Amino acid sequence: MKQFTVAIIGVGSRGGETYAMYQKKFPERMKIVAIAEPREDHRELAKRLWDLTDEQCYVDADSLLAQPKLADVCIIATPDDTHVAIALKALDLGYHLLLEKPISPSKEEVIALREKVNETGLTVAVCHVLRYTVFYSELRRVLQSGAIGELVNFQAIEQVGYWHQAHSFVRGNWRTGTPMILQKCCHDMDILLFLIGKRCLRLSSFGGLYEFRADRAPEGAALRCMDGCACKDDCPYDAEKIYITNTATGIANGQTYPTEVLVTEPTVERVYEAIKTGPYGRCVYHCDNDVVDHQTINMEFEDGVTGVFTMSGLTEFPCRQIKLMGTRGQIDANMDTGLIHVTPHGKPMYTIDVHDLTDDFDGHGGGDHLMMSGLFDAIEGTCTDLRTDINVSVESHLMCFAAEESRLNGGKVIEL
Ligand SMILES: NC(=O)c1ccc[n+]([C@@H]2O[C@H](COP(=O)([O-])OP(=O)(O)OC[C@H]3O[C@@H](n4cnc5c(N)ncnc54)[C@H](O)[C@@H]3O)[C@@H](O)[C@H]2O)c1
Repeated sequence: MKQFTVAIIGVGSRGGETYAMYQKKFPERMKIVAIAEPREDHRELAKRLWDLTDEQCYVDADSLLAQPKLADVCIIATPDDTHVAIALKALDLGYHLLLEKPISPSKEEVIALREKVNETGLTVAVCHVLRYTVFYSELRRVLQSGAIGELVNFQAIEQVGYWHQAHSFVRGNWRTGTPMILQKCCHDMDILLFLIGKRCLRLSSFGGLYEFRADRAPEGAALRCMDGCACKDDCPYDAEKIYITNTATGIANGQTYPTEVLVTEPTVERVYEAIKTGPYGRCVYHCDNDVVDHQTINMEFEDGVTGVFTMSGLTEFPCRQIKLMGTRGQIDANMDTGLIHVTPHGKPMYTIDVHDLTDDFDGHGGGDHLMMSGLFDAIEGTCTDLRTDINVSVESHLMCFAAEESRLNGGKVIEL
């Protein structure tokens, strides 16, 4: 089994916390030999963690890609609108790529990159990690087994979670720029394509930004949570609750996500400092965000299969759920609980618990690292089914571009 050398461009949350960590788990399979990262603290941390020399640490993508090819694989985990320019240069140098989603906020760039990849013959995996989770793999296996006959109809929901919406899509990196339906839900469209195994033919979409706007601010709301805000006690979006005290997300409870996005090596003191002065301490009603907080898509697939998808930033927990209705039964599946309930019509329900199939749920239900193994196997030729090949991933992106076009045009039906 070959050990792959990798260069990581963008050593932030995904590049540093997710993909680099693969080396800790599988040192015989991956070795980081170069990184590019403009933020000095993140660069220094990666240098220390992965035992790199100064010469192996570059200040940005351009300086790394100005060198001859340094590794087998280049991991691109930079902001959305930088992916394609970096990918094109890396392909010219002959790197195989692990490319973060969304491929690009621009439809033209997405298509141009796919064409370029196909000219080079290099392997490019887009990080649609859910395809590699045991949960969705099992769900697809059950569907393909005919347990509910032929799939006719579905109802899917992406529950973003109120704190995650506030963190990423109101205060954070994705508050503007990439449409939320593309940024967050290209995963959901991709999983629908994976499960249904048919193409989406047309769709329409509605949605908007309901809550996180200045005109919705409660009376007395300060511009920053820690500046004596009169609404602090009642506000679920209060930065101190989300980043310090919340049991699921607060550093005082030992939670490193999402606090590691605010500071490297988070501690209670460092996180307090960040919310007193940085962007993550801003009032959610007084940010410069413009992406939606709720959106629905109504879809028709080949052979008359129909369904609806809802994305909501106002749910209690982040979680994906889906109901699949077939000619001989129905499935109710919940990624958070890992339970897949199958009810053949007229027969008792039975349940598959994915916890019985694996105990590795680290990083997107285990999908992050299984996807990396899939990429290495595909390059090596020991696996011919790269589930997240760019040619497959473009399809979900085109659905998201169409959904956004529909939403901005009064819910007009868009043919794909
Ligand atoms: N696959 C998934 O499920 C998933 C989940 C979250 C985020 N993402 C995607 O991953 C990408 C990165 O997200 P993140 O959460 O890690 O963000 P992040 O901000 O934590 O990390 C991005 C890093 O890129 C660095 N960077 C910016 N410009 C650069 C350049 N020119 N050269 C080198 N480095 C540069 C930044 O300094 C930063 O450290 C985004 O495209 C995001 O949409 C994917």
